Amino acid sequence: MSRPQAPRGTRDLLPTERTSFLRLEAIARGLTDRYGYQPIETPLFEQAEVFERGVGAVTDVVEKELFRVSAGRGDTERERWALRPEPTAGMVRAYIQHGMQTLPQPVKLTLIGPMFRYDRPQAGRYRQFWQFDVEAFGDTGPAIDAEILDLALRFYAEAGLPGVELRLNSIGDRVCRPGYISELSDYFAAHADALPELERARLTTSPLRLLDSKDAAMQPLIAAAPSITDHLCTECAQHFAALRAHLDAMGVTYRLDPRLVRGLDYYTRTTFEFFPQGREGQQDALGGGGRYDGLIELLGGRPTPGIGFGLGLDRVVLALAAAGVTPPELGIVATVVVGADPADTVTRLRIATQLRAAGLSARAELGQRKLGKQLESASRDGAHLAVICGDEMAAGQVLVRDLQAGTQRPVALGELVREIQRSQAQHRHGDGSR
Ligand code: HAM
Repeated sequence: MSRPQAPRGTRDLLPTERTSFLRLEAIARGLTDRYGYQPIETPLFEQAEVFERGVGAVTDVVEKELFRVSAGRGDTERERWALRPEPTAGMVRAYIQHGMQTLPQPVKLTLIGPMFRYDRPQAGRYRQFWQFDVEAFGDTGPAIDAEILDLALRFYAEAGLPGVELRLNSIGDRVCRPGYISELSDYFAAHADALPELERARLTTSPLRLLDSKDAAMQPLIAAAPSITDHLCTECAQHFAALRAHLDAMGVTYRLDPRLVRGLDYYTRTTFEFFPQGREGQQDALGGGGRYDGLIELLGGRPTPGIGFGLGLDRVVLALAAAGVTPPELGIVATVVVGADPADTVTRLRIATQLRAAGLSARAELGQRKLGKQLESASRDGAHLAVICGDEMAAGQVLVRDLQAGTQRPVALGELVREIQRSQAQHRHGDGSR
């Protein structure tokens, strides 16, 4: 019989990897708390329109990678849904739907969760992946742009990832970008014969995306293409200069990259990506984001500026492993309750339950094995203490054994919780939080 497997491009996060993710999530939560971002959760699927209008119908993310969802069985609502490929559009939908425009601005929200893209799976590119996302609605910047970049870099630093590079660009706004795009189209049209098929098709639908092409034949053309930086209107140029001044004053280092265009259509002005030291390729990007001053209006809200980032947690975990940063230790149960009478699981379970009710980390040996085997398994699991239920029970006592030191002493049952609390506190892992 064939055995079911996790769908291609998805994977189970087994305990070691899940622990790494949880550590990153805790760092993210700590940081967003300090920076004043409030948590939000949006559905894993939305009306497809949210992404078609928000992210853009002519983007890889919508054109090729959207997981469309149907309720099946008649699907009477005739609603077309899609799994979220990214969280920004859904958060904007929620911001408008819940009237958050009437709250004091900026509204600063954060979300950590899985995203879905029907992409060709490869290392660091999955069909279900996790993002740490922050969004600030209602502030035109540029100071908040700098603050958000500092927050992202601080996340990588606290995660222990050295040398993450920030690449920064401004892609203009609705005033200056059309002129630039038309110049760019003319430039590429003049080289139409040299364009690969995909790029030639894109020339009419989204010429900006040609700058992002990975095709080797495109690279010399891209290098000589007109640069957006030379075409910014006065307001965009001032915004970009002020952002850089803020970053310089904060000591944030970055590399200007006038070819950096993002894969989603909603961006205006500030755009950025984060890369591990010395890596360039798209599937290496550890995170990215930017400003989207037209998106809220596009999804039916009042004109409101916004900026945010999404950091790919799967890639951060991979990059940490590649940088030799050791994953955190798995949680260890600090105390194991064992017994001389293999059949007496009632006593062992009762004592372990008392310890756990007092907030201690404990488990009972529930297999009916000999005491020696029970102790062996407790040591193998890395437990620090064993509570041994033996003959002393008749006198209302158990033995508490330090599994590392190999010493043991009798403790009255009424004193057990206090005694284990004291002993666990002495051990590095014995603080009850594991
Ligand atoms: P994005 O650049 O499409 O931006 O994705 C952000 C990050 O998610 C990427 O840099 C990468 O680390 C990770 N990522 C993307 N696709 C995959 C995949 N298939 N497998 C693994 N990791 C992946 C956004 O999603 C925007 N919503 C960011 C943003 C927020 N802009 C403004 N606010």
